[in-house]
Amino acid sequence: TRSWAEPYKIKMVEPVRMISREEREEAIAEAGYNTFLLRSRDVYIDLLTDSGTSAMSDRQWAGIMMGDEAYAGSENFYHLAEAVKKYYGYTFLVPTHQGRGAEHIISQLLIEEGDFVPGNMYFTTTKLHQELAGGTFVDVIVDEAHDPESEHPFKANVDLNKLEDLIKRKGADKIPYIAIATSVNMAGGQPISMANLKKVRRLTRRYGIPIIHDMTRVAENAYFIKQREKGYENTPVRDIVHEICSLTDGATMSAKKDALVNIGGFLALNDEELFREAQNMVVIYEGLHTYGGMAGRDMEALAIGIRESVDEDHIHARVGQVQYLGNQLIDMGVPVVHPIGSHGVFLNAKKILPHLSQDQLPAQSLAAALYVDSGVRSMERGIVSAGRNPETGEHHYPELELVRLTIPRRVYTQAHMDVVAESVEAVYDNRDHISGLSFDYEPEYLRFFQSRFKKS
Ligand code: F0G
Repeated sequence: TRSWAEPYKIKMVEPVRMISREEREEAIAEAGYNTFLLRSRDVYIDLLTDSGTSAMSDRQWAGIMMGDEAYAGSENFYHLAEAVKKYYGYTFLVPTHQGRGAEHIISQLLIEEGDFVPGNMYFTTTKLHQELAGGTFVDVIVDEAHDPESEHPFKANVDLNKLEDLIKRKGADKIPYIAIATSVNMAGGQPISMANLKKVRRLTRRYGIPIIHDMTRVAENAYFIKQREKGYENTPVRDIVHEICSLTDGATMSAKKDALVNIGGFLALNDEELFREAQNMVVIYEGLHTYGGMAGRDMEALAIGIRESVDEDHIHARVGQVQYLGNQLIDMGVPVVHPIGSHGVFLNAKKILPHLSQDQLPAQSLAAALYVDSGVRSMERGIVSAGRNPETGEHHYPELELVRLTIPRRVYTQAHMDVVAESVEAVYDNRDHISGLSFDYEPEYLRFFQSRFKKS
């Protein structure tokens, strides 16, 4: 097959700085061995997250100039609502400053003290908002999702037995909704199949339980359905996205991922009464119901970004770049999560550092070592991210102890991916010399963001 390159050309560049290994050692020690606490000027290739770090197109920047910064009734709000309707199919739109703003509103509106919220694996902010509203998150994802080596093509599928069992044990009236994420982040960017989603729809309809869709990376999930699910080979990604959304009752969106903007999000709903309540709540916490924490220009860039996110060439290049990096690491023999996900490559820290117990924070230690080697910034997704059980105060011990190399969209080239792969290989070759870490400072909520660590 012939070579295939990125479907864009570079119009503007942002120079990056390379510092010495000694300077990086100093920087990571100063950051308490937490990559979130590094200054970005000390980072060479930033794979911390794909959230808000993507490159906007010239069309989106042109949209920025069309910002209608009226406090109420901004024209850009109507463009955004039209895009959400057209590409996702949801009727009502409540803009929020980012994903967790929408999670806050829907959790407060639907969850009551003592409720249970099933989901296809947890996400950090989503679960916390469910807990703060008085709910308990229950994982109903298939077992394969917790096995980094399983090649299951749809690791984000719901185990219908787990779900129905929960409904029977707790009663449907204790389950305000099921949270279904597309391209499940914590599982390694793994997709849910359309067939499974349809079954979840049938089951929940029987019990009158709504589906709230975390659609943060829905286009990436749709791309995998096109690649892997029989009957969708020739369906445009935008139609698959629309079909996924049509099987759900509402959605929370962190637009900073799929939708190619640096800031923004929304809650989308089909139920008018719930929409009215959400509109009433957004004015307390986010901003007026026609901007919800975004500037008019942000809403315009987002409306355009939604359209670009379902473009076939774009999504092929985006997921393809992640596969390119992942396949190099597989060829090098580095243990990673299989299959390679949609937004990042996840290193299996448990397997890479078997000499460290989970209490010695293997993924956190590996992320720090990778930064020191090359200035590549990654993120811990293991015991630190999982936090503590609010009841017992004990650490959660997740099966998956991972380092995420998250690829921003349209930002880095294939050559950058080669540099990353070589650095991971160098760290892997030196893995026996990587020592563990322990907590030095631990905040109460979402501790992975601000914790500091010391060498143990
Ligand atoms: N849902 C998913 C699946 C996410 O990945 C994120 C954010 C959110 C919700 C929350 O959205 O950040 O806009 O408030 N994920 C980022 C990440 C932070 O790095 O994975 P937000």
